[in-house]
Amino acid sequence: MLQPDIDAYLQRWIPDRDVILEEMEETASRRRFPIVGPVAGRLLAQLALIVGAERILEMGAGFGYSAYWLARALPPDGRVFAIERSGENAGLGQVYLGRGGLADKVEFLVGDALQIVQGMAGPFDLIFVDVDKEQYPASLPLTLPRLRRGGLLITDNILWQGRVVNPDPSEASTRGIQEYTRLLYETAGLYTTILPVRDGLAVSLKLT
Ligand SMILES: C[S@@+](CC[C@H](N)C(=O)[O-])C[C@H]1O[C@@H](n2cnc3c(N)ncnc32)[C@H](O)[C@@H]1O
Repeated sequence: MLQPDIDAYLQRWIPDRDVILEEMEETASRRRFPIVGPVAGRLLAQLALIVGAERILEMGAGFGYSAYWLARALPPDGRVFAIERSGENAGLGQVYLGRGGLADKVEFLVGDALQIVQGMAGPFDLIFVDVDKEQYPASLPLTLPRLRRGGLLITDNILWQGRVVNPDPSEASTRGIQEYTRLLYETAGLYTTILPVRDGLAVSLKLT
């Protein structure tokens, strides 16, 4: 988890912003809607490039900010399947991606991600998880079998604004993140590192 001034400093170095991304950041700020932001967004795109991702799954896509970064890292025939519970968010995401010329790269699926994913076939090269935090442990048996060997499972909010350090036992979200983190590190064949970028990203490589 980065200090706000360090995060602002890192943002200053990011060169390849486009006007749509900046507009989405303004919308998120105005609506107090949580998005990964430019530093983590660029990291997502870089990781997608590193693994040569062509087929990406996102669970908890909001209005498409993180999907926008991921879509820009795809080859011409690549695709992000972006699952979002709110039809309103998904609709807004379609508008932004369309305006950015990325509409053919992102398919929004509206509904509960843990339900929808059960009807989806893998393999995916990269899976980004950003659903409700208490759902994180239940998501793992659904994502892992759908990730290719050598693929990346990336999970947001792993540091939960520091609440994981001295957790409030009554907070289901923090408990969910801690249980999920334990699973990530204990699952054979997964190689996980937590990066303290923004709110903490877990990057897990599927080795076997
Ligand atoms: C933190 S926001 C996502 C932001 C997005 N990943 C980004 O950074 O631009 C979390 C989103 O996940 C959605 N969500 C939470 N749990 C979900 C679930 N089980 N299935 C589908 N969407 C879910 C919420 O509606 C919300 O829009």
